[in-house]
Amino acid sequence: MSNFTPFLAALPKCEHHLHIEGSLSPATLFKLAKSNNIALPADDPAFQSIETLQARYERFTSLDDFLGYYYIGMRTLLTVSDFETLGYEYFQKAHADGVHHAEIFFDPQAHTERGVAYNTVVEGLTAAQRRAEADFGVTSKLILCFLRHMTADEAGKTYQEASALGHFSDGTVAGIGLDSSEVGNPPEIFREVYMSAKDAGLRRTAHAGEEGDSTYISRALDLCHVERIDHGIHLVDDMELLKRVAANKTLITMCPLSNVRLRCVTKVAELPIRTFLDNGVRFSINSDDPAYFGGYILDNYLAVQDAFTLNVAEWKSIAVAAIEGSWCEDDRKAVLLKKVDECVEQFADLQ
Ligand code: HPA
Ligand code: ZN
Repeated sequence: MSNFTPFLAALPKCEHHLHIEGSLSPATLFKLAKSNNIALPADDPAFQSIETLQARYERFTSLDDFLGYYYIGMRTLLTVSDFETLGYEYFQKAHADGVHHAEIFFDPQAHTERGVAYNTVVEGLTAAQRRAEADFGVTSKLILCFLRHMTADEAGKTYQEASALGHFSDGTVAGIGLDSSEVGNPPEIFREVYMSAKDAGLRRTAHAGEEGDSTYISRALDLCHVERIDHGIHLVDDMELLKRVAANKTLITMCPLSNVRLRCVTKVAELPIRTFLDNGVRFSINSDDPAYFGGYILDNYLAVQDAFTLNVAEWKSIAVAAIEGSWCEDDRKAVLLKKVDECVEQFADLQ
């Protein structure tokens, strides 16, 4: 344990890059498979036990290798109650790690495709959000992600379904995102749905520059008008673009342990955290798919500290950027900024 551990545990956090389906632990996966009578792949020895599945998660070779397991795992989620439990268990862990505000991705197409209704997912997640706010004071938003391995037409249908239920106009869903297999599925394929979202006043983000090169980032910004970039680690390959992202205060939602597990980098120290700090690129640190990548948000903070030995002022700048880049209301941001000030004051002497 580093002498920074108590400080990093106490530091008020915002999480912006968390796939709720990626918080499904192997234990819950097996439990739900049994109670919901869902067959797991008999021909894959990884599914023999919780332990063998956990061990397999430590050997992902790429984003697609992970996604194969991610989509199998979520097949065990069927009912409103399953989604509420999934969401609430995440909030419990996030609260214990010092998260005060969370903006959560969900993948409706991965559920509707297998016969689970869009609204079953959203009803369960919104119930979890309400309970988390009442029990822990954690505020949250939902971000509807489109699966980029599916077509623009299919994304459009999902957008229409959410829109027809009033989920955009009533704030149930705050924004849209884009995830799944990146390379070969560039963001501009989904330009039309992004433009509809912009016209409707929705927030917009996209995974870009995780496995894809830096043009995936510029195309998401220029052609889809996204306000945030998820992962964005390839931004350092185009310093002109990096300077533009810094000047525009575009938030990059980094996921250190995910990048190591999916072999985007061999170790956390290879991530461009120092370059981002030195050039004023705003970023937050997040857990992505914590049940699959070996840690929740605090584990990611600690891994960054281990690799970069940041000081209190640098951590304060990260915590402040995370709050300012959040999509919550200004009065909520003011409350969170004050909490960060108080925490930093308490640990001011930390070296
Ligand atoms: N990248 C792309 N798609 C995803 C991820 C990710 O890290 N996690 C869940 N879906
Ligand atoms: Zn992600």
